Amino acid sequence: MKQLVVYYSRTGTTRRVAQAIAEVLKCDVEEIRDLKNRAGVLGWLSSGMDATLKRLTKIEKPEKPPELYELVIIGTPVWNSTLSTPIRTYIVAYRDRFKQVAFFCTQYGSKSDVLKEMEALCGRKPVATLMLRRRQVETGEYADLVKQFCAYITR
Ligand SMILES: Cc1cc2nc3c(=O)[nH]c(=O)nc-3n(C[C@H](O)[C@H](O)[C@H](O)COP(=O)(O)O)c2cc1C
Repeated sequence: MKQLVVYYSRTGTTRRVAQAIAEVLKCDVEEIRDLKNRAGVLGWLSSGMDATLKRLTKIEKPEKPPELYELVIIGTPVWNSTLSTPIRTYIVAYRDRFKQVAFFCTQYGSKSDVLKEMEALCGRKPVATLMLRRRQVETGEYADLVKQFCAYITR
């Protein structure tokens, strides 16, 4: 099954997970790039506001057409208990072109409804989901959980 990992990362945590998944599955990966500057405290504040208001943003055109893949694995950091704005934008723009989907997210805490929200936004049940705390990524604990997630996808 041809798979694509699509992710956005503001500070590198979700990127580490995305790269680990792509390495295990040996599949393509696409980073979503936001045209809005989200660096620093101001970027943090405006990102929280954008997320809460469920705004969309302008993203660079992705290189890989999702319809060429059997499975699109979408990863986002959690912002104010919801999806990051760049991933919300990507899903809204491309959801009609997804076949199967799987989701992962990284967050500081341990609870949120983001995966359910991604399901509703995509209009599809995911074949697998993975929710990680930032600390699990920093300590390396995520590696085994990524392997389990990938094993479930390829079972
Ligand atoms: C604007 C903003 C809002 C956030 N809101 C939450 C939140 O509601 N719950 C949570 O657990 N973490 C929250 N976080 C923390 C991030 O989800 C977490 O650090 C994530 O791993 C960052 O991923 P990244 O390094 O790929 O950008 C927030 C971070 C930002 C920048």
